[in-house]
Amino acid sequence: MERTYVMVKPDGVARGLMGEVLGRIEKKGLKIVGMKFAVMEEAKAKEHYAEHAERPFFAGLVEFITSAPSLSLVVEGNDSIKIMRAINGATKPAEAAPGTIRGDFAVDTGRNLVHASDSTEAAEREIKIHFGDAALLTYKRCD
Ligand code: CMP
Repeated sequence: MERTYVMVKPDGVARGLMGEVLGRIEKKGLKIVGMKFAVMEEAKAKEHYAEHAERPFFAGLVEFITSAPSLSLVVEGNDSIKIMRAINGATKPAEAAPGTIRGDFAVDTGRNLVHASDSTEAAEREIKIHFGDAALLTYKRCD
């Protein structure tokens, strides 16, 4: 079963959108098997966004992502990586379709509310960074 890493970023938490994001994931039929509500450590943020280390927005991104609590999730289900990217919508809110989280609630790329892994390699890497060897949960969904 495919797993992906999803984050409700500090802007999503501050705007009271955790429930909205969790609801969309659950109602779609994906299973939340890991959840961590915490202020992300700087080292983890830098590792998570390592591919953007040379970009001009990197320092601001790390500062923002570590500035306040975020909600980290491991989401499981068939094609969960692709489906979560579709639920979130395009990275740039101006390009995100209505009906997606970013299309419905965001206007600024630097405050685009949510993150989801973009490949199987990224999902594996990001789950390891944020959940380490912590046991993920197993339970039966009745749908
Ligand atoms: P995310 O899906 O978490 O992946 C990389 C993040 O970098 C992205 O969402 C945005 O939050 C952020 N980002 C990308 N481009 C810019 C930009 N031009 N200015 C600020 N932040 C950006």
